[in-house]
Amino acid sequence: MDTNTILQGYKNIFNESADKLFFSPGRINLIGEHTDYNGGNVFPCAISLGTYAAFGNRDDQTIKMYSENLPDTGVITVSLDDLKYNKSDDWANYPKGMIYLITQAGYKINHGFNLYIQGNLPDGAGLSSSASIELLMGNILNDVFKLGIDQLDLVKMGQQNENNYIGVNSGIMDEFAVGMGKKNQAILLDTNIMEYHYAPVELGNHVIVIMNTNKHRALADSKYNERRSQCEKALALLQTKLNIKSLGQLSIDEFDRNSYLINDDTLIRRARHAVFENQRTLKAIKYLKDNDLVNFGKLVNASHISLHYDYEVTGIELDTLVEAAWQQDGVLGARMVGAGFGGCAIAFVEKDKVENFKLNVGKIYQEKIGYAADFYIAEISDGPSEIKIGVEK
Ligand code: GLA
Repeated sequence: MDTNTILQGYKNIFNESADKLFFSPGRINLIGEHTDYNGGNVFPCAISLGTYAAFGNRDDQTIKMYSENLPDTGVITVSLDDLKYNKSDDWANYPKGMIYLITQAGYKINHGFNLYIQGNLPDGAGLSSSASIELLMGNILNDVFKLGIDQLDLVKMGQQNENNYIGVNSGIMDEFAVGMGKKNQAILLDTNIMEYHYAPVELGNHVIVIMNTNKHRALADSKYNERRSQCEKALALLQTKLNIKSLGQLSIDEFDRNSYLINDDTLIRRARHAVFENQRTLKAIKYLKDNDLVNFGKLVNASHISLHYDYEVTGIELDTLVEAAWQQDGVLGARMVGAGFGGCAIAFVEKDKVENFKLNVGKIYQEKIGYAADFYIAEISDGPSEIKIGVEK
């Protein structure tokens, strides 16, 4: 994205030049879906699509925020003296919540600012535009007001923001992937103990194609919270006999031997997904390390099947894209990413087959669903950073 466009956009809205420019990525998840709130492993990475912000200091207590992606909401004005959630602040509640949490934690934001935001993450596509903006705000405040907050603490505040300020019961994966992202590396995070390792994503002659269903998914309205509480119920039933804190602690065999304790069709399937997906993630990472891309791809496919049949979070749009991808030449594997119910899927595709892939999958999707899908090549990127003005990123 041309950073001059962002700076010019700031000028158009605020009639002055910006002081600083920042970028924060979105994320994809290679494997390990709906495991982060079950004490399991995830394997996400940050991507080069994300959110840009031009920042300007003010000498009062006012914060003005404008998003080029949502121009209808206009400039949203809030005061440092009243940072409580306010429905009418719309999208600006995401950055506002971060300012609130940071000040609540005792850090001093001693003057207001103007913020101009423009992103190239498709909105509501499950690539974590909300985590992107949260970590963007956190990192801007950290930089400008020299707060010295650890990146991991900003990540945790991002999740707190979702859970307590916005009101979505999401896990930590999105904020973690965005905040801790490293170029060409995915992060294996064990959400049970918050231990993490970087692993290079070496796919030989393959690239990761992001496939957007263009079916908007609204996380707060979706079945996300329901899935979470179903897993909690299953866990509680297992805990009547087992001394475990999360589903992520169970091996496949342990789950098998104890699933009679759950004894409910839906709850068993939900818990089975959480347990199997966690074990699948660990296996997939081993395959990737051993450069066994074929078996890695098979586990990627298995993840989608489990999300479809056991977790039931895919839907016709995601299934159509993924099943069409499986039929194409040069595809190692494909699956949905993120919460599901629309949004995006990924496919691991041989470089010189990508054009055909897009054409064929796009055609099948258009014919079955009635509107077009979009395709992007994922570049695995660093976490949030300042872009020095005058120096192109
Ligand atoms: C959403 C949530 C994450 C995670 C995924 C599913 O993206 O924000 O915490 O639970 O869904 O893996």
